[in-house]
Amino acid sequence: MKRKELLYTGKAKSVYATDDPQRLVLHFRNDTSAFDGLKKEALDRKGAVNNQFNAFIMTKLAEAGVPNHFESLIGEDESLVKRLTMFPVECVVRNIAAGGICKRLGVTEGIDLNPPTFEFFLKNDQLHDPMINEYHIRSFGWAQDSDVETMKSLTFRVNDVLKKLFSDAGLLLVDYKLEFGRFDNQILLGDEFTPDGCRLWDAETRKKLDKDRFRQGLGGVIEAYEEVARRLGVPLKFNA
Ligand code: ATP
Ligand code: TYD
Repeated sequence: MKRKELLYTGKAKSVYATDDPQRLVLHFRNDTSAFDGLKKEALDRKGAVNNQFNAFIMTKLAEAGVPNHFESLIGEDESLVKRLTMFPVECVVRNIAAGGICKRLGVTEGIDLNPPTFEFFLKNDQLHDPMINEYHIRSFGWAQDSDVETMKSLTFRVNDVLKKLFSDAGLLLVDYKLEFGRFDNQILLGDEFTPDGCRLWDAETRKKLDKDRFRQGLGGVIEAYEEVARRLGVPLKFNA
């Protein structure tokens, strides 16, 4: 299916309409941003790596019973997806403390969180995606209680599936962010699962292999994403 008009330009992806009102094309761009867009760079191959990485993960999740929007790869950096009505919230699970929680609670990076934590954030760049709780979601009508329960249980199911998948590849799934939306009467996982929206460390050395390499100016960002893809067996293909 061909992409038609541009509907939305996000920080890392562009969203296009298609002939089918129920389908969208997601174009994964090379643009990379951090700190609410203050740090920005275009990184060669990122769009293609993330698109194909996301396709691999979404397919594994669907096989494991996590319903999601992914339909097919339609180009090296484009995928066809179901068009969802997105909830304006982000679901974050942490297995190991890093990033925001260390600053917020003054805890040391690297401590195990057992059981893992679950946090909601409001998707609002102007407000810097503030942390919210279920009462805010209920009072402001951002989602129904039953939707909240579904998002939580699917987010934890993703943890079970992906902790194992990454662990088998010698990687620790430190934390990740998911977004969900409604398609007819079903809640589906949307957006993306890539090293842009999660933290992955080498299990032996704890070397960072995710977007923290960009945030912290460590270099070798895409090389790290490709290393993760190679270890998982993601078949990366690039146009000549
Ligand atoms: P952020 O980086 O904070 O997620 P953004 O809008 O800049 O925000 P992008 O990934 O660049 O993020 O843009 C993609 C947009 O498309 C997001 O707003 C996301 O919620 C939305 N989206 C993802 N999947 C779907 C889908 N299946 N149906 C409708 N919208 C979607
Ligand atoms: P967090 O540590 O709260 O924020 P930061 O990465 O800015 O220090 O993020 C936890 C994980 O969720 C991390 O892997 C990044 C991801 N995430 C996003 O990709 N986008 C978001 O808007 C949020 C809140 C988190």
